[in-house]
Amino acid sequence: MIVTASRKSERLSLHGLWTSRTAFVLAATGSAVGLGNIWRFPYIAGENGGGIFVLLYIACIFLIGIPLMMTEVMLGRRGRRNPLETMKIIAAEERLSPYWVWIGRLAMLAGVLILSYYSVIAGWIMAYIFRTAGGVFHGMQEATEFEAVFSALIIDPERLIAWHSIFMVITVAIVAHGVERGLERAVKLIMPALFFILLLLLLYAATTPGFVAGLKFMFSPDPSKLNSTSVLFAMGMAFFSLSLGMGAIMMYGSYLPKGVSIGGITVMVAIADTLIALLAGVAIFSIVFANGLEPAAGPGLVFITLPVAFAKMPMGTLIGVLFFILLLFTALASAISLLEPWVAWLVENKNKGRIQAACMCGLAVWLLGLGTVFSFNLWADYKWTFPVDLGRVRYVLFEDKTFFNIVDFLTSNILLPLGGVLTALFVGHLMKRQSCQEELLLGKKSFNVWYFVLRNISPIAVGIVFLHAIGVFRWMGIG
Ligand code: PHE
Repeated sequence: MIVTASRKSERLSLHGLWTSRTAFVLAATGSAVGLGNIWRFPYIAGENGGGIFVLLYIACIFLIGIPLMMTEVMLGRRGRRNPLETMKIIAAEERLSPYWVWIGRLAMLAGVLILSYYSVIAGWIMAYIFRTAGGVFHGMQEATEFEAVFSALIIDPERLIAWHSIFMVITVAIVAHGVERGLERAVKLIMPALFFILLLLLLYAATTPGFVAGLKFMFSPDPSKLNSTSVLFAMGMAFFSLSLGMGAIMMYGSYLPKGVSIGGITVMVAIADTLIALLAGVAIFSIVFANGLEPAAGPGLVFITLPVAFAKMPMGTLIGVLFFILLLFTALASAISLLEPWVAWLVENKNKGRIQAACMCGLAVWLLGLGTVFSFNLWADYKWTFPVDLGRVRYVLFEDKTFFNIVDFLTSNILLPLGGVLTALFVGHLMKRQSCQEELLLGKKSFNVWYFVLRNISPIAVGIVFLHAIGVFRWMGIG
């Protein structure tokens, strides 16, 4: 669908527009699919009980993720500005308190924090492209050898800073040039190719003796492993993976032409995202069990398991290099969507040029990212504990966490759920029902389902998990 004449005029007067609904789907999928699916999902699932986590995750995607994603796209398209301005405009139009702009503020804060560590991990991917291409893993047999390569990388702050810097420079350069055209084209190529290589990996995984154990670990939920933390993590992961609560999807929604119904396109993005995470999970856990590795190995999990597979499979070096390159591209597509809201804000609200805005944001993120770099080496022994003491209310918010752990915890488990509850309350309970109907363009039945979930299920579910995250239940002695 090419932009029609009337949309063209809309396009000229506003801050940019996707050329079609497919372009939006591709860009949003580019944002959603990333390191979250292949690096973060498996290790968080591994640390949180496997199957039960996967089940909760899928439930969170459908019950909370998709309705909230539709909500974000809707808000973005209605406001047609960066998330901060969008929230300001809509609150004013709906005659609601200007304080709702805090939804935009929290989202942008979460975005910059996430990008700061995302870039460091993307740097690891770049390092692994070269290690794989250089044949470092060739002929390696023992899992410990693969682990040693990973440890050698992350204990070296200089290397990590170099890769982190390169990744940020590329991200800034793309965003500075405007993302729409390049991103659309790139994502069209990258996503099918990534999917194809994941299938190859899965085929390889099916030939290993760990396949059945991998499948079991992923898909047979063990209810005894269910605890409130796994619920919290599953929801945080669903938010993270769908790029929710960070302004990214709201921003991309703001480039969506009027007249496109929001339901179907959102579901497509969510399904592609979930499928890729599940495929990666099965492949990775099969390799974990076939090689006597630990499912709960933490952030290094895929950097150890995938090279094991590439070292052992036919044409592994080629497939490995291609895989890491594709992963790098998906990470870039995600990083762009994290930087874009800030850049749009500086351009639209502070009158900065796009290039200057991109550089300023890039520098801030780069500096913050150093904290994550050092968490794996120089500051690895600095662990922070955060006791909350408000007189009668006393508990520990987090314990023994490195800088990286804190940023991750703060964003995925606090800022994103908080943003989610506020958005659900704002749209489900305060915005006019008719405004939502006009913008979403759903069929009557779908609209009613969406509205019901957003009003009743999302805020309560996310709210409970959020209260748990900030320790309220611990303080009350019930969690
Ligand atoms: N969804 C991305 C991933 O799964 C991460 C991301 C979060 C990207 C927020 C943009 C915004 O890797």
